[in-house]
Amino acid sequence: MLKKKDLLGLYHVSAEEIVEILNRAEDMKALLLAGRKAEKLLSGSALITLFYENSTRTRTSFELAGKYLGASEVNVSASSSSVQKGETLIDTGKTLDAMKIDFIAIRHPLAGAPALLAANVGASVINAGDGMNEHPTQALLDMFSMREKFGRIEGLKVAILGDIKHSRVAKSNLFGLGKLGAEVYMYAPATLMPKEIEKLGAHVCKSMEEAIEGAHCVMGLRIQLERQKGGLFPSLSEYSRYYGVKDEMLRLADKDAIIMHPGPVNRGTELTPSLIDGDRSVICEQVTNGLSVRMAVLSLLKEYREKNL
Ligand code: CP
Repeated sequence: MLKKKDLLGLYHVSAEEIVEILNRAEDMKALLLAGRKAEKLLSGSALITLFYENSTRTRTSFELAGKYLGASEVNVSASSSSVQKGETLIDTGKTLDAMKIDFIAIRHPLAGAPALLAANVGASVINAGDGMNEHPTQALLDMFSMREKFGRIEGLKVAILGDIKHSRVAKSNLFGLGKLGAEVYMYAPATLMPKEIEKLGAHVCKSMEEAIEGAHCVMGLRIQLERQKGGLFPSLSEYSRYYGVKDEMLRLADKDAIIMHPGPVNRGTELTPSLIDGDRSVICEQVTNGLSVRMAVLSLLKEYREKNL
């Protein structure tokens, strides 16, 4: 049983709640693999996807998750809504709430926007990525993919490489993996490594080799040019040469190591195309698992709502 009406981040979610979501996601994946896409678990519920930033994976999988479980689903994108006429986030939320909706999955460029919305609406708010803060369902699907491959999270070494400074995925993974007993090793150019990240439990590495040595999971992160003012590294080609993960480096990793990336991938920048498409890559599986995890989150929040609201 989840303990709150909203899922805003993994920082405030307990290990028990994370395990419950992963276990429920296993049930949801079994439904998907059996071709069952017309379930009734969310029958009578309504989901809004409210996206102020672009998305392919997260938005589509929230929409499909709702539809596959029988919810009514509507997308509101900032570019075609009354946000363009100056409506505030709170007024937008209250307007949607007045339509008797149950869930809002929100993506917003500003950290804290989902929490502000959650405090002002009766619907359950799910953070689908807020600025450089958190992206909890991405980390949950990453953890689900790791557990599926290794049968456990505890004791895994997870190497996270790339633009950590701007990455909400890195932060949510750090919180979630730490709660379940994995060790997170990070490597990035100094300009893309947050100064205080060690205090949150990360091992900050001096070389990529140190991060990848013995790693079970090697996760590349996208260079987020849209959040940078520039000048953090000389050029994409230099970044790729010195900080991109190359095939030969995988020899240092655990023999069963998997390659992960939250997407979208800049091919040849963070990872070589042969790593992205190779046998060790679980990048497409992560997308499938994202659907299962979002189905799990929606169904568990519905149970919370039925018992508490
Ligand atoms: N991983 C992720 O959040 O991808 P989208 O931006 O396509 O949703």
